[in-house]
Amino acid sequence: SNFFQDLQGSAKVHYLRISVTDRCNERCVYCFPQDLGFLSKKENILSFEEIYWTIFYGALRHGFKDFRITGGEPLVRKGTVSFIEQLTKISKVRSVRLSTNGTLLGLYARKLKEANIAGVNVSLDCLNPSLYKKITGGDITPVLEGIDECQKVGIESVKINTVLLRGINEGEILPLIEWASEKKLVIRFIELMPISYTGKISKENFLSVAELKKRLEKLDDLEPLEYKLGQGPAKYFRMKNRNAIVGFIGAISDFHFCDNCNKMRLTSDGFIRPCLGNHLEIDIKPFLRPSIDPFKIYKAFELALQRKPPEHSFRDNYNPGRVMTSIGG
Ligand code: GTP
Ligand code: 5AD
Ligand code: SF4
Repeated sequence: SNFFQDLQGSAKVHYLRISVTDRCNERCVYCFPQDLGFLSKKENILSFEEIYWTIFYGALRHGFKDFRITGGEPLVRKGTVSFIEQLTKISKVRSVRLSTNGTLLGLYARKLKEANIAGVNVSLDCLNPSLYKKITGGDITPVLEGIDECQKVGIESVKINTVLLRGINEGEILPLIEWASEKKLVIRFIELMPISYTGKISKENFLSVAELKKRLEKLDDLEPLEYKLGQGPAKYFRMKNRNAIVGFIGAISDFHFCDNCNKMRLTSDGFIRPCLGNHLEIDIKPFLRPSIDPFKIYKAFELALQRKPPEHSFRDNYNPGRVMTSIGG
């Protein structure tokens, strides 16, 4: 149809993060609010079919090629892996990745590999089981087993995500780096973003990746990686003496963090959110219900792309507006 120009992958913004649920089986101190009243009712969450048509008429026709499935915890929703398989079969889809807390990977790693997943990022903020319990509310054992299972079944890119929490997991940083390098896993350290007020942590727990980098430079030589890993904003370095690869996600301290942003988000309740750190959202539910309107879905993406802010507002006393679990990080 002549309304749609096919950008064939030249688009600057080509990476869509899709939150498939705001539910989670863990309760991370930096993410999940204690009050569970906000959890969306099933009818307010997009069905996989609705997400499929959103991608088909909205994202693909604007040149999106790379997709990341997030939550909440995406694997707690029934049908997530089949949906991933459905997406990877679309010829215009270059990659589909997953961000997960890892608790269910033991069950799903093989199926994810069979579904042609391009990579899995697993949250792991420490190795100490009792600290893990304190941070997430859950048990670390299935997470470690799930990571092993991903490697065993041959998922190409398995990366570890560690949120930096001053006074909480600082002592875990080196053990995590050494554990990851032994397993040949890439580990990324993430600055705490003010996106969920759980009441369990505060600004005092913020530790910048800039400070972490200085600390690590005292122990080892860090050289920038010559190649890119994944499609995200992380900056990667090799710790030469350890032969470890560490990534830094410095959304707050890195003033160039947003410079090459290639990303938009689809929330679990059907809003296009052009930036994690900005309130702007475009509701696409009216173009999905009661029936699918391809042109309006296309136009909603066009508007979201036009209005995508040049950078986030996390440094301006930002109030998130909604919780991380429905946006998906
Ligand atoms: P890769 O393609 O593997 O690099 O993935 P990613 O880092 O983009 O995704 P992941 O879900 O693993 O996110 C890791 C952390 O980076 C999370 O805390 C995200 O919230 C954060 N993050 C990813 N993209 C953005 C972004 O565009 N803006 C901000 N502020 N944070 C982001
Ligand atoms: N700040 C930074 N990262 C966060 N994540 C969840 N909440 C926050 C926050 N407030 C991370 C998780 C997961 C990724 C998808 O987002 O640890 O690795
Ligand atoms: Fe769940 Fe992930 Fe949030 Fe932790 S960070 S509560 S695992 S959605």
